[in-house]
Amino acid sequence: MTEASNDDMDVNMLVSQGQELVDSILRRRPLAEIKALIDAGAPVWFQDDEGLSPLHAAAYVENEELVRLLIDEGAVWNAVDNLHNTAGDVALSLNNEKCYTMIRDAGIRSELLLSLLQKRAPAVNSPLNIILKATDTTPAGSTDAFLSTKLEYTKDEHGQEICLVKVADQEEVGVMMGWERGIMQETVHKLCSDHANLNEGLKILNVGFGLGIIDSLFQNLSTKPSLHVIIEPHPDVLKHMREQGWHDKPGVKILEGKWQDFIESDELLSVGGFDVIYTDTFSEDYTELRRFFEHVPDLLAGPESRFGFFNGLGATNALFYDVYRHVSDLHLADVGIDVEWSDVDVFEGDTDRWGKTREYFAMRTYRLPVGRMKTF
Ligand SMILES: C[S@@+](CC[C@H](N)C(=O)[O-])C[C@H]1O[C@@H](n2cnc3c(N)ncnc32)[C@H](O)[C@@H]1O
Repeated sequence: MTEASNDDMDVNMLVSQGQELVDSILRRRPLAEIKALIDAGAPVWFQDDEGLSPLHAAAYVENEELVRLLIDEGAVWNAVDNLHNTAGDVALSLNNEKCYTMIRDAGIRSELLLSLLQKRAPAVNSPLNIILKATDTTPAGSTDAFLSTKLEYTKDEHGQEICLVKVADQEEVGVMMGWERGIMQETVHKLCSDHANLNEGLKILNVGFGLGIIDSLFQNLSTKPSLHVIIEPHPDVLKHMREQGWHDKPGVKILEGKWQDFIESDELLSVGGFDVIYTDTFSEDYTELRRFFEHVPDLLAGPESRFGFFNGLGATNALFYDVYRHVSDLHLADVGIDVEWSDVDVFEGDTDRWGKTREYFAMRTYRLPVGRMKTF
């Protein structure tokens, strides 16, 4: 028998064992029987024609013990079925908190481990990498591609200002859309409105200008910022800012380049600490955001200072969004920052309003982070 037909036989065997595992779980066979199938080599990572994995099946039959067993055996927590649902989404839709939490915690553990591995050895190519590390080489997922692609500032059919970038011949993606205004307003409110130094004029650092929504809100605070530093690298955004007079506003300092170019520079460190720092950079993945987190404590003025970031990663799916929030919370705790999360309703009862541009943020609720240095 040839090597190729041996391989075919192995694959056929795995597929039929995997299918038997999924079917047995759905038929609620006893746990001992399921364990025996796994011990005999049935693959816990298997997905059938509909994308159903053993973990999906265990979530459907709401069997906590089985969910735990499959996770311990290495089931893939973030596998999606053909309808883009993970096993966690299935548990959530059935209101099964225990199963959901087990799957989510498996996600958090594996992402924490993954980012630890990435810190030590950069080229880890794991399928678990899909949320936190961008593998996208289009302008939507790669900073270099984004910075060399033309942007278009225009108005949508609702008259709202938008900024678009072309990611493929026929496809444009919103870099910043008007629907995010509510999130920016609430962010500025949470970061500034009861800040002890508000009346003296806050020292603010914002990374990523976009449509300038958040920067305009900072400028419109009851007392103008005493210093307002904006870091922005995209030539078309800088041109737009110049046309709108941002370079001439008193107290505003624009650093033309990427945050990575300035983060350890005297221009930022000699300020002696910012009262408020915010970052939202589009096209960067979580690895970069986490690198930014590590610099935040050196840039904040003190315990009353606050840090916010656009919490949009993983927002195409409830489980991914939740895992990502917990992972960022833990990584910020690692650098000495406590985060308070609050909810912003971004749905406003009108799903069609922003059409395709809303696809990257499918959640009804935006989880808004406000970080402060831990006090001991
Ligand atoms: C989503 S927009 C920011 C929107 C802004 N918060 C607002 O209220 O309109 C992202 C911005 O980050 C900028 N950007 C991307 N990579 C960056 C980097 N490495 N450093 C600084 N800015 C970056 C982009 O050019 C873009 O202008």
